[in-house]
Amino acid sequence: MTLDISQIRKDFPILDQQVYNKPLIYFDSAASSQKPLQVLKKEEQLYLEYYGNIHRGAHFLADKATNDYEAVRDQVAAFINASSREEIIFTKGTTESINLVAFSFGEAFINEGDEIIVSEMEHHANIVPWQMMAERKGAKIVMLPFDESGILCIEQLDELISNKTKLVAVAHIANTLGTINPVEEIIRKAHEKNIKVLVDGAQAIKHIPVDVAEMDADFYAFSAHKMYGPNGVGILYGKKELLEKMPPYQGGGEMISEVTFEKTTFNELPYKFEAGTPNITSVIAFGEAVKYLQNLNIEEAAAYENELLEYATKKLKEIPGMIIYGDHAKKSGVITFNVEGIHPFDLGTMLDKMGIAVRTGRLCADPVMDHFKVQATIRISFAVYNTLEEIDSFIQALNKLVPMLS
Ligand code: ALA
Repeated sequence: MTLDISQIRKDFPILDQQVYNKPLIYFDSAASSQKPLQVLKKEEQLYLEYYGNIHRGAHFLADKATNDYEAVRDQVAAFINASSREEIIFTKGTTESINLVAFSFGEAFINEGDEIIVSEMEHHANIVPWQMMAERKGAKIVMLPFDESGILCIEQLDELISNKTKLVAVAHIANTLGTINPVEEIIRKAHEKNIKVLVDGAQAIKHIPVDVAEMDADFYAFSAHKMYGPNGVGILYGKKELLEKMPPYQGGGEMISEVTFEKTTFNELPYKFEAGTPNITSVIAFGEAVKYLQNLNIEEAAAYENELLEYATKKLKEIPGMIIYGDHAKKSGVITFNVEGIHPFDLGTMLDKMGIAVRTGRLCADPVMDHFKVQATIRISFAVYNTLEEIDSFIQALNKLVPMLS
């Protein structure tokens, strides 16, 4: 292990503070990761030195901002090994990326009676857009279930696929259970029947080196803010031949070629899908997050997060009444749990007062909660700046709180 975690933590000054007079322990990176100074400084530099609207102005500031913005598109294409820059669309987040595909792919390719397979462990953002599209087009959603340990039943895929199936939507890593899904196998099975696959990569992108060409995903969606980047930037990767056949998702500036009151013609890829002034500063600062992640080395960072995961899982299991949802080997750095007889909101609130930030609730995944027949849960999630010592403090806090609240 060559990662120097105390050095890494210096890049994240937000972590070095006290909340309620206790040292902050941030265990909510699956909701949103913290941002290193490199990203924050880039955003500040842009506003201080060369902010201008992109693609529109013929002046120095606009040109420089445009060049930097488009350079990030090249950087992202290389980062996920897309075959061309036209396959990278900037959106405002994974949710918008999936909504874009659900609307636009739906308009182009879905007819009445068609089916979309959606896994049971999806975040609402990878369920609801498909339902909205299905409602509009008279299509049907078919659920691919997971088993009691939190593993997708992909052996059922062959039965669920019919001659009406047009697309499979699945998370690369589930935000609730941390399950790493075998997306390559799912894609291979789907492609044998000429079915397209959208992968929600929001939780995976900082954890698994993603190669969309090798994976052969038709669409891959992710957000900057979960990978040490700024808020308000999402990425949609889509195969060029599909994106070309799909109609625009939103109308406005930049996505047009020519507008008259009789007819509008649309711009080429990727601009056809980027209506309006985008999040210029955050996209440019996102370039620094990509560099940061590459310098860390995703595989090394993931190995370290797995060490945290294994240590925390082992320690949690020593706590009486502990129930971990999705307790298996094929998972990444999140643990979702409950303690018998204790309301997760009570425990979460008390942990907060001890300086420990965890996520509580239904984790934007009602079907997962319903599967386990629970109202709510607690989730802890790790990033490369977390430490084994923080886990020890968290376990000590639980050892105090659990007998008190039971
Ligand atoms: N999708 C984010 C989460 O899982 C917000 O917490």
